[in-house]
Amino acid sequence: MQTKETQWVHTMSPRIHIIGLGSVGVIVANALASLRQRPDLTLMFHRRLSCEGQLSLTVNGIYNNVRSGFDVEEFHDGHWKRLPGQSGRRRPSSYDDPHVSPIDTLIVAVKANYTRSVLNTVKHRLSRNSTILFLQNGMGILEEVDESVFPDPEQRPHYMIGINTNGTSRTGQLSAHHTSLGEMPFGMAPRLSSPELSHGQWHQDPRLIRSARPMIDALSNSPNLNVRLVSVEDVLHLQLKKLAINAVLNPLTALLECKIGMLYSSQQPWIRRLIELMLEEISAVLRALPLPFQTSLDLEAEFAAKQLTSMVEAFARRLPQHSSSMMQDVGKGSETEIAYLNGFLIRLGMQMGINCPVNNYIMQAVLEKQESQRYGGDKQRASTHQQRKAQPL
Ligand SMILES: NC(=O)c1ccc[n+]([C@@H]2O[C@H](COP(=O)([O-])OP(=O)(O)OC[C@H]3O[C@@H](n4cnc5c(N)ncnc54)[C@H](OP(=O)(O)O)[C@@H]3O)[C@@H](O)[C@H]2O)c1
Repeated sequence: MQTKETQWVHTMSPRIHIIGLGSVGVIVANALASLRQRPDLTLMFHRRLSCEGQLSLTVNGIYNNVRSGFDVEEFHDGHWKRLPGQSGRRRPSSYDDPHVSPIDTLIVAVKANYTRSVLNTVKHRLSRNSTILFLQNGMGILEEVDESVFPDPEQRPHYMIGINTNGTSRTGQLSAHHTSLGEMPFGMAPRLSSPELSHGQWHQDPRLIRSARPMIDALSNSPNLNVRLVSVEDVLHLQLKKLAINAVLNPLTALLECKIGMLYSSQQPWIRRLIELMLEEISAVLRALPLPFQTSLDLEAEFAAKQLTSMVEAFARRLPQHSSSMMQDVGKGSETEIAYLNGFLIRLGMQMGINCPVNNYIMQAVLEKQESQRYGGDKQRASTHQQRKAQPL
């Protein structure tokens, strides 16, 4: 009888699965589908699609592109099912039943707060030979996934992280607008809580090479996104910088319902002061961070409050017309990623004895606004729900 382990070896093929087909998932899948040596691509939807004929993904904006020829899976009634009549490409026999067919590489582009629930639907198809690339804002997600999705370190897939600064927004169920060209460095995921998982000669690990190489090659060659493979140290550095930017700009634009550039308007000097106060706390947390590996990264210099303040302002001035997805989420009464931005920094600070009252206040304000929007003015229900949500932070 074949063990799960031997099954993996026999079924290895350069197929990339993508879950979370919002604006980021669409531009990434579209870019991969544009490669001359295109890998097999499976798009995974967490619900039934209303789609007739062959599914295509459209990107407009700084370039225009329509791609089709994907395999498509939908999750309903507790099972992954294939949408017939899609790619038309020959599939390995192991792919006959999508609910059980193994996944070598999975790109996750759902919002941070849905990561656990989406991975719970596919965890039986992932093994220690698989690689997951997380394309999300925020931090603290991997620790949650370790704890509640893959608690056994021996069976855990490899994790990679991509830090995406391409600006995108959704224009339809299967279409996205690429509003600004950024970049998408990616690499092995650093683990703040587990130094042993962060270090080592990961690029020499045969299991990882076998599972991740096709995805690494495909992404590195894909057009329009500025993707590049970077070291684990660089991933951590870039992740922390992006965390500081998002922890300031996202909640403030959501609370003030404005574009990023408005935060620096000369008529509102108090907002600048608020940003400085938030960044002083963020700087204290980031400078005190126990690093999981030897690195030349100078936390004191890189994350000094002044440095962070200039970095956030430079980012905002580059994209003054941008609004944040947190603003849109709050507007719709949807759950935001705040627990993985300011919430993560507050929790980290608490572990090191550093208080972040300004960030905490801002986070509570976002949670309150999000809940009151969701319950449409029912203040009593919103406040009870918000208290429940805020508790673990
Ligand atoms: N947009 C940007 O410019 C940008 C830039 C940098 C980083 N990011 C980060 O990238 C991540 C993705 O952002 P986005 O803008 O692509 O978000 P998005 O447009 O909201 O897309 C998220 C996608 O995930 C799907 N989804 C939700 N729950 C799911 C579940 N349980 N299972 C499977 N799919 C599920 C959603 O499906 P539905 O169709 O049902 O909604 C949606 O298609 C976020 O962490 C964001 O902060 C975004």
